[in-house]
Amino acid sequence: MTETAERATSARGGDGRAPTMGAFAYFEGALVPFADARISVATHTFNYGTGIFEGIRAYLQDDGGVAILFAREHYERFLRNTRLLRMEIRESAEELVEITRQLLRRNGDLTDIYVRPVAYKASTSLRLGLTGMPDRVTIYSFPMGDYVPTTGLRATVSAWQRVNDNAVPARGKVTGSYVNASLAVEDAHAAGYGEAILLTGDGHLAEASSANLFIVSGGEIATPPLSDDVLPGITREAVMRIAGDAGYRVVERRIDRTELYLCDELFFTGTGVQVAPVEEVDGHPVGKGRDYPVTMDLQRIYFDAVRGRDPRHADWLTRV
Ligand SMILES: Cc1ncc(COP(=O)(O)O)c(C=O)c1O
Repeated sequence: MTETAERATSARGGDGRAPTMGAFAYFEGALVPFADARISVATHTFNYGTGIFEGIRAYLQDDGGVAILFAREHYERFLRNTRLLRMEIRESAEELVEITRQLLRRNGDLTDIYVRPVAYKASTSLRLGLTGMPDRVTIYSFPMGDYVPTTGLRATVSAWQRVNDNAVPARGKVTGSYVNASLAVEDAHAAGYGEAILLTGDGHLAEASSANLFIVSGGEIATPPLSDDVLPGITREAVMRIAGDAGYRVVERRIDRTELYLCDELFFTGTGVQVAPVEEVDGHPVGKGRDYPVTMDLQRIYFDAVRGRDPRHADWLTRV
């Protein structure tokens, strides 16, 4: 395994070391010890992948406190996506934000944190379908630093196509559809790469396994449109905004595979990956290789914002 793949695997806990969970989780409407947040092996979600999830980060701020990034936006997307699985969720977005604040206070980790909410079909019925089953929300958290290196990733174009919106809703963050991402990541790591890039059924760039994708070419920043089986990333939208504010031209358009090999810069965005430059795709150096001025400019603005150092983006953060 190459050094980059090793570092990426280790950061994800993919080397067998599970993250150390926060002491408490939200489960069945209350904060309970993490070990008591258990579901039956017969649960519909466990058997059929009928869950909706989110990935949220909370960042340590300069004053020693912790703030949740885009809390409201994540829970609004979460509740919107639950409609795809015909879920009826009792908690509102405001309540979920408040529950998450309480959970993080209770867990008491004064560091960077990952928060994982999951809405799931809690029925133990064997039958397929979506309605007439109880739906529940669980939320857990654990300390987490960088998910992938933020100084230069090696990526590969996967032989697995990105899940098609007419098969499993690509926009949905449906738990079962992450079989697609897991297959792609497994192959990428086995081949010594840190991340996989997935194409649409008709061969255009969609996104990385759990991150959106941008290319920089001739002064223009481009990202695939949501209609190309792309998850509407909250970081994607934020980065498009900060890039526009910084004076870059940003467009959403279909991107051909060849553009990966011809562009000046390539980067991924996501709650997990943050803003991560790609230095190589399948042995082709991206642009001049290890030189990504636009990406690093956007990364700097993003990291300042998430740490509460940029008053222009104070509304991104919810203090715990
Ligand atoms: C498939 C996929 N694409 C993109 C992203 C990035 O989305 P966000 O910026 O909202 O975290 C994620 C992670 O949530 C993802 O799972």
